[in-house]
Amino acid sequence: MNPFPSRFAAGALLLGVCIWLAGLTRSSSLGAESTDPPSPQQIRGTLDEAEALLDSGKPAKARGKLTAAVKQLDSLLELDRLPSGTRGLVDACRSLKEQLALEEVDVSGIKIPDIKSAAGKAAAAKPPAKPADPPDAAAFLGPRPGAAGGPQAVSFVKQVAPILMSRCGGCHVTGRKGGFQMASYEGLMKTGAVQRGVGDASRLVEVIESGDMPRGGGKVGPDELATLKRWIDAGAAYDAPDPTVGIDMLARPLGEAAPVAAAMPAMSATPAGPVTLKPGDVSFAFDIAPVLLKNCCGCHDDDDPEENLSMVTFARLMRGGESGPAVNAGQAAESLLLRKIKGTGIDGQRMPIGKPPLSPEVIALVEKWIAQGARLDLLTPKDPLENLAAAGRARSLSHEELLKVRQAASGKLWQRVIGDEEPVVEPRGDMYLIGNSTKSQMEAVAIAAEQALEASQRLLVGTGKPLLKGGVAVYVFAKPYDYSTFWQEVLDDERPKGLGGHAGLKGDVAYGALVVPAANAGTEEDEVAAELTALVAEQIAAAAFLSRGSPDWFASGAGRVVAMRAAAKAPCVKEWRREATEQLQRLGSAADYFDGQAGPVATAAIGGGFVAAIARPEAKLRMLIEAIDAGASFEKAFGDIFKSPPQSLFEAWAAQEARKPAGSGRR
Ligand code: HEC
Ligand code: HEC
Repeated sequence: MNPFPSRFAAGALLLGVCIWLAGLTRSSSLGAESTDPPSPQQIRGTLDEAEALLDSGKPAKARGKLTAAVKQLDSLLELDRLPSGTRGLVDACRSLKEQLALEEVDVSGIKIPDIKSAAGKAAAAKPPAKPADPPDAAAFLGPRPGAAGGPQAVSFVKQVAPILMSRCGGCHVTGRKGGFQMASYEGLMKTGAVQRGVGDASRLVEVIESGDMPRGGGKVGPDELATLKRWIDAGAAYDAPDPTVGIDMLARPLGEAAPVAAAMPAMSATPAGPVTLKPGDVSFAFDIAPVLLKNCCGCHDDDDPEENLSMVTFARLMRGGESGPAVNAGQAAESLLLRKIKGTGIDGQRMPIGKPPLSPEVIALVEKWIAQGARLDLLTPKDPLENLAAAGRARSLSHEELLKVRQAASGKLWQRVIGDEEPVVEPRGDMYLIGNSTKSQMEAVAIAAEQALEASQRLLVGTGKPLLKGGVAVYVFAKPYDYSTFWQEVLDDERPKGLGGHAGLKGDVAYGALVVPAANAGTEEDEVAAELTALVAEQIAAAAFLSRGSPDWFASGAGRVVAMRAAAKAPCVKEWRREATEQLQRLGSAADYFDGQAGPVATAAIGGGFVAAIARPEAKLRMLIEAIDAGASFEKAFGDIFKSPPQSLFEAWAAQEARKPAGSGRR
């Protein structure tokens, strides 16, 4: 029986068209190069094939393709002037080699060329690419302050904006051709087309160098292109006060009204999802959530809230109580919540009852927040206020400061759940393992966890950068019973059967939790180690996404994708493939998956299959994280990178899965 209603068919058609279109682009770009050194696109194609082979469990064949790609790359590097994207290809080859090594393929014979040792003089003359910034407070809060001001610093306002306006303007500044728009600096940065520090790897440069843009007969001169690249190489800084001012305003020829002062607000805020703050905006997470937690939630929580007004989550607060909405976005004076804390123009009592009024400063903040649109700036509307407040605090701390806060909170949370037992603690850099296994077992977990951390970092943020700001706690439970107690305490729920681990946020704690898998007689030692690596990678990767505001359906799916890569040999990974098909067949509707109704076991299983299908190549996961760390909300970043709403992608994927013959393994 086909469990999918026919409305999936429309989605399937859509996906089919997309695949066809993608094929078309590929073949047209391939057609352009028949000359000797292969084009970057050709090499990319070979690498894609290698990756597909690896995904379908053919590592030896993948090795063959990688060898071919490296050979192509070698001849490309003979060129005097390296085409854009070369550096990215070198990185991609290196990463694939590492992945193959993880699958225990002998790759010692494959020598990845070094771009500096190559003949490319142009490349050698270039300053070394600065790595992108770690997710720090500045990145969250938006663009960096003015350009560093070196001798050849490129000005965005004076040089870059006029180029973008004159060469791309009608289609992408005032227009939105192909879904790509750079209305303002902020908008441009959110598209992900600019990778701070690496002009060559930035889409903005690539589309010009490949000759694809501008369309319509225009041309970007070599000097202009060099200016764009230099600007990005130097960090893509903004040198005007307001990053939301339209690029068309900035690019006006001198003499017209001073554009920068005319700070035109960009009216793009979606009320539902979180938004990016501008300097001077009140942050719900940082400014408002702590006030409500401290002064109001005692009476307005989920157990029988006063006047049915609960403030446990942002979504609940915005729903309002008996008298209707308590917050009217944009209309502070009308909002009951503000009147209640001011004690003016109300029935009943001033809030908080029985306590002195809130300070005038705090009331002013609440007023300003509502006047500015009463928006959420971090995580998701469904997250508890406690997590929102913690996320707001996290943004104001440095990685090192937050590391201390998170570590202390993780220890306290353990104490609260398993009070009578002193835990074994194994700090491993930005990851801290806390558990009640024996010391020797914990050491084995720690070794596997280090591999998991390394693989997750490599896939999601780049080696050596923190996977998430302030690090992540890994709770390791020796006994399933203790793990169940943890669920009960932290998630206020029964632990579902068949789930060996999960990730979550709890106030200041970002954690992955897992129960040590029972040692089956006959399991190979390396399988046991791989299993542990997979379990830890799954949870810490999921935590990395949750802390960046991804909903559960995405975070748990992405966790599995990373784990499949980190430990392809693990027995659980094979199990996951089967589980995804099974759970999908049982799923009532796509909505059950997206809003969590399907339960954590199904969400993780289906998510693993779905996210693996859309996040090809996995570099898309990293692009997503980069976009969020540069200030985009999850929704915005998802739309930019995956090009379609999650729901339609899901329906297309599910329809495709349903057509596969029973028992065929998914790739
Ligand atoms: C005459 C209209 C026009 C002009 C001018 C133009 N584009 Fe485009 N652009 C398009 C269209 C149409 C698409 C969608 C194309 C597609 O999907 O094949 C697009 C898509 C894009 C994309 C997203 C697709 C991708 O490949 O990543 C980027 C980035 C882009 N353009 C950059 C630029 C830049 C930079 C300029 C200026 C140097 C520019 N475009 C000038 C029409 C234009
Ligand atoms: C000690 C318990 C208590 C605390 C603390 C408290 N409230 Fe209330 N709240 C109530 C009660 C009881 C009512 C219903 C009676 C009334 O409106 O005077 C109420 C009603 C409200 C209403 C009206 C809801 C409706 O739909 O009619 C709002 C708005 C409100 N509270 C906001 C707040 C805010 C904001 C805070 C924190 C600054 C807060 N409350 C703290 C007990 C409390």
